[in-house]
Amino acid sequence: ISLKPYNTFGIDVNAKFFVSVSSIDELKQVLALQDFPNKLILGGGSNMLLTKDFNGLVLHINLKGIKIISETSQYVIVKANAGENWHKFVLWCLDNNFGGIENLSFIPGNVGTAPIQNIGAYGVELKDTFVSCEAMNLQDQSIKTFTKSDCNFGYRSSIFKTEAKEKYVITSVDFRLTKQNHTLNTNYGAITSELHNMGVKHPTIKDVSNAIIAIRERKLPNPKEIGNSGSFFKNPVISKELYATLQENFCDIPSYPVSEKEVKVPAGWLIEKAGFKGKRFDDYGVHKNQALVLVNYGNAKGEDILKFSKLIQKTIKRLFNITIEAEVNIL
Ligand code: EPU
Repeated sequence: ISLKPYNTFGIDVNAKFFVSVSSIDELKQVLALQDFPNKLILGGGSNMLLTKDFNGLVLHINLKGIKIISETSQYVIVKANAGENWHKFVLWCLDNNFGGIENLSFIPGNVGTAPIQNIGAYGVELKDTFVSCEAMNLQDQSIKTFTKSDCNFGYRSSIFKTEAKEKYVITSVDFRLTKQNHTLNTNYGAITSELHNMGVKHPTIKDVSNAIIAIRERKLPNPKEIGNSGSFFKNPVISKELYATLQENFCDIPSYPVSEKEVKVPAGWLIEKAGFKGKRFDDYGVHKNQALVLVNYGNAKGEDILKFSKLIQKTIKRLFNITIEAEVNIL
């Protein structure tokens, strides 16, 4: 079976076996099958670059359902199952006037994969509303609850990318959301100006979501039209010393504070400065509006995109002495 419809990069590789599971019982049964030692867990397929055929069983997580599990006058705890589409879940929260994840509007992918890389955008990260998640152990099919502190969340990182990598499949996530007196995160310059352009003076969480959808639609390619996995690289964290040296040659190099000794530099800026923005080779290239996003215009091969990403990394290293790491999972 072709995996093209199951990855937002739109890479056409084949899986030998494929199964979609819609219940915890089905998931247990499939994981217990001894005949398929080689398994690949697939959620929304929005953060992976497939570079070759998969000679094993692809397990598509299709667990659906969203429910309120407890509430007070101020807060609500909502449980969403792993196979729910992330943006649909955000919209469900907005329809119920539950606040906290509106800045994460329009991010591709599913609820169950969101904690793995602690998705983040416009000043908010998944961890800010995350309470816990349930995950099934691939070996013995037992269910474990991971609290927020168990998850070791960091910038685009969690325990599911480190110690617990490829050991669990997340089945559901609990979020703590506000029911009233929502805290709006509109500090990000682009949001303020978007709201201003929309003529909104007293924004609601729905307005913030709409502003972010508009910004993302302008800047980021829609995977339904042009294959992509969002940011291909992480923004690198560098020492203030290196930053100061770079400033001598590039006075406009942007940065965000990280700690006393370090700053984060937008990889998109580095890639643009290196001349890659909007470049196209055959069916792959760098998006014209956001240099952090590599794109597949149709029939690009995963290997070609991988090679291209390595060329970008090498060039950035040579020009700026900065190592940029891939944010997407390469398979
Ligand atoms: N920039 C450029 N050229 C570009 C892109 C960016 O010069 O082509 C510079 C500009 O100076 C700009 C700055 O980078 O002001 C920041 O750009 P932007 O606000 O677009 O954010 P980003 O750092 O490029 C990160 C996340 C995005 C997230 C945005 C908004 C990472 C790896 N990416 O991108 O997340 O949407 O911030 O918060 O942290 C994703 O992870 O898939 C993703 C899209």
